[in-house]
Amino acid sequence: MDVPSRLPDPSPAELAVSAALSERIKIAVAAAQGFLPFEAFMAEALFAQGLGYYLNGSRKFGAAGDFVTAPEISPLFGQAVARQCLQAQAYGDTIIEFGGGTGKLAASVLTALAGLNALPARYLMLELSPDLRETQRQLLQALPFANELEIDWISDAPATPARGIILANEILDALPTAAFERDDAGFLERGIGVDDNGALRWQARPAGGRLAAALTERLAGCSLTPGYHAEINLQQSLWVADLPRFIDRGVALLFDYGGPRREIYHPDRHDGTLRCYWRHRLHADPLWLPGLQDITASVDFTHVAEAAIDAGLQLAGYATQASFLLANGIESHLQAAMAADPASAMRLAAQARVLLLPSEMGTSFKAMALGIGDVTGLTNFALRDERHQL
Ligand SMILES: C[S@@+](CC[C@H](N)C(=O)[O-])C[C@H]1O[C@@H](n2cnc3c(N)ncnc32)[C@H](O)[C@@H]1O
Repeated sequence: MDVPSRLPDPSPAELAVSAALSERIKIAVAAAQGFLPFEAFMAEALFAQGLGYYLNGSRKFGAAGDFVTAPEISPLFGQAVARQCLQAQAYGDTIIEFGGGTGKLAASVLTALAGLNALPARYLMLELSPDLRETQRQLLQALPFANELEIDWISDAPATPARGIILANEILDALPTAAFERDDAGFLERGIGVDDNGALRWQARPAGGRLAAALTERLAGCSLTPGYHAEINLQQSLWVADLPRFIDRGVALLFDYGGPRREIYHPDRHDGTLRCYWRHRLHADPLWLPGLQDITASVDFTHVAEAAIDAGLQLAGYATQASFLLANGIESHLQAAMAADPASAMRLAAQARVLLLPSEMGTSFKAMALGIGDVTGLTNFALRDERHQL
């Protein structure tokens, strides 16, 4: 997947941001003796203060941005998530959302729960981006029932863990990933260097430390031939193990692009799963104008499940997004919304198709529920429980 030749031109201001970030990355490469691990590069590209993609104030979401996510596509997504929350609210009255984007998921979940007379006591958002935090604040404070619950923004876990629900849509795939390559002798780590012309370039060196251990442990059953290269995330297990600091009894609902390990590391996928988005164009070159594009990689949900179990959590559910949404009443939400506003029927039906169809988001995105503390299974989690696929 090369960079498409006809990408829209970035503005001079955008080019200036990317140039400044590239300089910063080159300094980091020099400080790392000429080899910056890809994970460190991705952390800079997405989260460098004031310059990285998520922290430089650029427009990311929606038609004028770079990509759309399920809650941006339709409130039907949040209505189904709310149905699941309703059941999980038995464990506690707090919802904590990681990386809430423009706040649309929070708004649709809370609106649906308000309609069911089931607002939580608190909705807490952990958002790294100051401008997205402000966008969320404006949207949520304008909700007609905003003064009936506490809506707040946090930068770390509460002093005492809460009880209830964690929501994270497309967070796991934004956590910077390591990259590797297979050669005749074994595994190499992929990283970024600077070539003779001063440009950022891919490089490789023998894999060591945590990366080598993770490659040996996780990929033992995968038949990868020399030349194969892909990504392996070393941060997701730490993120999952940290969840009980936020909620010590309840359920974490995670939604992301990905699948079981054998699909992520299928021998035919020999170029990995890196995806970069700029103005709704998809390509696979993370070195193209750092800071202007989102960079993600598919989530190995087998690894997320293993990490959760190692951390003492329970794998309470795993299903395709379509199966999760159908089990949580998306059809009845759609019918009710169409009946309430017939003029929007076509638009709503089109939104539901994007969320559900296998050719759109229905099967490539997955939903996973992790139980934290003493919780029992979630009965309406999925129409088809696919935990056995992991
Ligand atoms: C692709 S966006 C998804 C936004 C939103 N959840 C949605 O579905 O529209 C990724 C989000 O993850 C956030 N993020 C990345 N790493 C994070 C972390 N460690 N903690 C919390 N948020 C994080 C980013 O700031 C960004 O808001």
